[in-house]
Amino acid sequence: MSGDFWIFGYGSLIFKPGFEFSERVVGRVRGYERRFWQASEDHRGRPERPGRVVTLVTSPDGECWGVAYRVHEEQRDHVTRLLDEREKGGYALVPVPFLCRGPGRGPDQVQVYLGHEDNPQFVGPEDEETTAAIIRESEGPSGHNVEYLLRLAEALTELDVVDPHVLRLANLIIDPSGVLLEE
Ligand code: SIN
Repeated sequence: MSGDFWIFGYGSLIFKPGFEFSERVVGRVRGYERRFWQASEDHRGRPERPGRVVTLVTSPDGECWGVAYRVHEEQRDHVTRLLDEREKGGYALVPVPFLCRGPGRGPDQVQVYLGHEDNPQFVGPEDEETTAAIIRESEGPSGHNVEYLLRLAEALTELDVVDPHVLRLANLIIDPSGVLLEE
């Protein structure tokens, strides 16, 4: 396949892409929602104490905002190998239609790493108090799980994106008894 390719980030790929790209645009994928329902044994947790990172779950009326990166054709294999290794904890690369914020820029389709609901690390619906408690206690080779959550919350705020699930979890981490961030 010729041409540049576009990768969509909705989790750590927003705040820490770790690869070369020539363009970055904000936009959304429809039919999915971001959830901290993927267990992490290799980045933000350990096999004996898995943390929680985001995946996309199907949601017919939902949408998920993030960023799409344009990767030069020549970099494609290198970047895919790099990200396949980084996202090996249950994620698969799938093409998804993309809607750019603002008119006339960005791709119609992006590649996205998502943890399908049948992958072994998929946790499934979990109440947010439980998820926040796990995040508070978990760390792994890429750092503390709290750092992952708060960097994601901050990155979404910088993009002017409101994700109530992420904000509620951040609130529970910052102050389990109160609300410090506006939803
Ligand atoms: C992503 O950021 O797009 C995938 C999930 C992650 O690595 O946090």
